[in-house]
Amino acid sequence: MLNVAVLVSGGGTNLQAIIDAIADHTIQDARICLVLSNNRGVYALERARKAKLPSRVVSPADFPDREKFNEALLAAVKESGADLVVLAGFLCVIPEKMVRAYENRILNIHPSLIPAFCGKGYYGLKVHEAALARGVRISGATVHFVDSGTDTGPIILQKAVEVLPEDTPKSLQLRIMEQAEWKILPQAIDLIAQGRVAVEGRSVRILQQAGA
Ligand code: GRF
Repeated sequence: MLNVAVLVSGGGTNLQAIIDAIADHTIQDARICLVLSNNRGVYALERARKAKLPSRVVSPADFPDREKFNEALLAAVKESGADLVVLAGFLCVIPEKMVRAYENRILNIHPSLIPAFCGKGYYGLKVHEAALARGVRISGATVHFVDSGTDTGPIILQKAVEVLPEDTPKSLQLRIMEQAEWKILPQAIDLIAQGRVAVEGRSVRILQQAGA
């Protein structure tokens, strides 16, 4: 059984997609051992409560400096017994020490087809504003492992979504969530739980069977 810690900062629709996928067995052999938020009072925590999942708040505001917050974040994840850490809209930078401790065991979902519209400054609606400003016909989402860069780690899954002429950043954001993010994030967790994700240098190979 793969223990998954899900880190959130906001509404938690990606968290909900994971909860639902475990419930309907789209994800097998995995369970959520912790929902951790850096913000109090976010709806993601309410989703965790409704699903009877253990949750914790680790907020930078509760620590004298970033270093202490980073230590507490890593300690909380370690204490949960997580094998895999999933960043589901988590807006804090993952400390270098944590990236090293969980090499190729931290997943992020990014709302574009990396390497387009990613890296520093591309988060939330800014990603979709940039895609619309550039006039792309296709955008989408990417699930990747986290390395020490911003959105630079090995790519596991991507899914394309059509951009429509009448799209606003918000409508595009919602369509990408519905058609891509809520599908490929649970799918990637299931592939990892099944032992079907092999990292080879900067790229990932999806195995037909575990270890094959
Ligand atoms: C998603 O758009 C995700 O791609 C980005 O943050 C957003 C999180 O939304 N990293 P939610 O909290 O899962 O609803």
